[in-house]
Amino acid sequence: MKFELSEEQSLIRDTVREFAEAEIAPSAAQRDEEERFDRSLMFDSLAELGLTGIVFPEEYGGAGADYLSYAIAVEELSRVCASTGVTLSAHLSLCANPIYMFGTESQKVKYLVPLASGEKMGAFGLTEPAAGSDAGSTKTTAVKNGDGWLVNGSKIFITNGGEAETYVVLARTDKEAKQQHGISAFIIETGMEGFSFGKKEIKLGIRSSPTMEIIFENCLIPEENMLGEESEGFKVAMKTLDGGRIGIASQAVGIAQGALEQAVAYAKERKQFDKPIAAFQGISFQLADMATQIEASRLMVYNAAYRASAGLSYSQASAMAKLMASETAMKVSTQAVQILGGYGYSREFPVERMMRDAKITEIYEGTSEIQRLVIGTALTR
Ligand code: CAA
Repeated sequence: MKFELSEEQSLIRDTVREFAEAEIAPSAAQRDEEERFDRSLMFDSLAELGLTGIVFPEEYGGAGADYLSYAIAVEELSRVCASTGVTLSAHLSLCANPIYMFGTESQKVKYLVPLASGEKMGAFGLTEPAAGSDAGSTKTTAVKNGDGWLVNGSKIFITNGGEAETYVVLARTDKEAKQQHGISAFIIETGMEGFSFGKKEIKLGIRSSPTMEIIFENCLIPEENMLGEESEGFKVAMKTLDGGRIGIASQAVGIAQGALEQAVAYAKERKQFDKPIAAFQGISFQLADMATQIEASRLMVYNAAYRASAGLSYSQASAMAKLMASETAMKVSTQAVQILGGYGYSREFPVERMMRDAKITEIYEGTSEIQRLVIGTALTR
């Protein structure tokens, strides 16, 4: 078992870190303040670096790297801007990846190639007002209509919503079948008649990542846009989320790492009672715990990413990594605010943004409670 990164993985870390610090970090606070998504900076420039399709084979416009390289890239972006991290994560793991995993050859050529190259951005439509944790209770319907499917319903809390051109959407195709068994997945694009956008969410954190409602009113989708087998959509969604949770866990590790670095730098600079506060064990022990929890989380993310690339089962590993990393991000960023005191609470320093950003990692792509359910079910099945 090797614990060091390969040359390629190290190069990806260095390149993305340098890019994130030079290009993404300087505007992160202002974009957060203005709730502004900057597509050219937060997506197009990632495409130029080859990140939008990093894990896909070159024949589909990807970079042919492994899932660990992708996790490293999301971590490095999130270390300075969690909104940029989730833009990549939602695009790649929730839209491009299910098309890669379940798409036909012609769907891959038509949809995956422009997603991987970054010509188009992707998003995932699963959540509905009455189907959050209980994803199987999807109410959106797709009814056979001539050579296509007529889709009606709406999806909420869609990351990249309104900005993305390509959406993987779950809809009920069999009303008679029980819960999860009557759901199918579809590829839906902007411009299809009957597809529109609803409310944009005003959020606590990841404020420069757009979150929007998407609406389908008699939206006619060609038959060939079904993704995977009919009535197998719930499994498509679950497998998609297995990969997505590695992305969110990486985002959480990045947020936590960013917060730790801020806390360490401040603790070394800030003098009280005639010495740097880092000299007090009350502070240095906190920093030690923060660093230890981050390292444990990172290793769990690496393990889940390794399993995904090696073709091993990774549902449980990715749920564990997300659970651990998201709770660590929340804990560590809260401690960082405490260490910076009044400065931490002010917008002068980025730790309050990191604390606000951390919270969503315990909620989206399955709450911490759902991760415990996935892990507990696997243990007791
Ligand atoms: N891979 C393959 N198949 C799976 C699976 C997996 N990981 N998990 C479950 N399944 C299969 C089961 O084997 C079962 O198959 P059979 O019926 O053939 O036996 C079927 O799916 C149903 O499984 P369950 O009985 O376990 O389903 P459930 O209704 O109890 O739900 C759940 C399980 C884990 C709670 C699931 O509903 C879930 O993950 N909920 C959370 C949803 C979620 O994460 N939402 C986030 C939205 S996306 C988001 O946040 C987007 C964003 O923009 C960032």
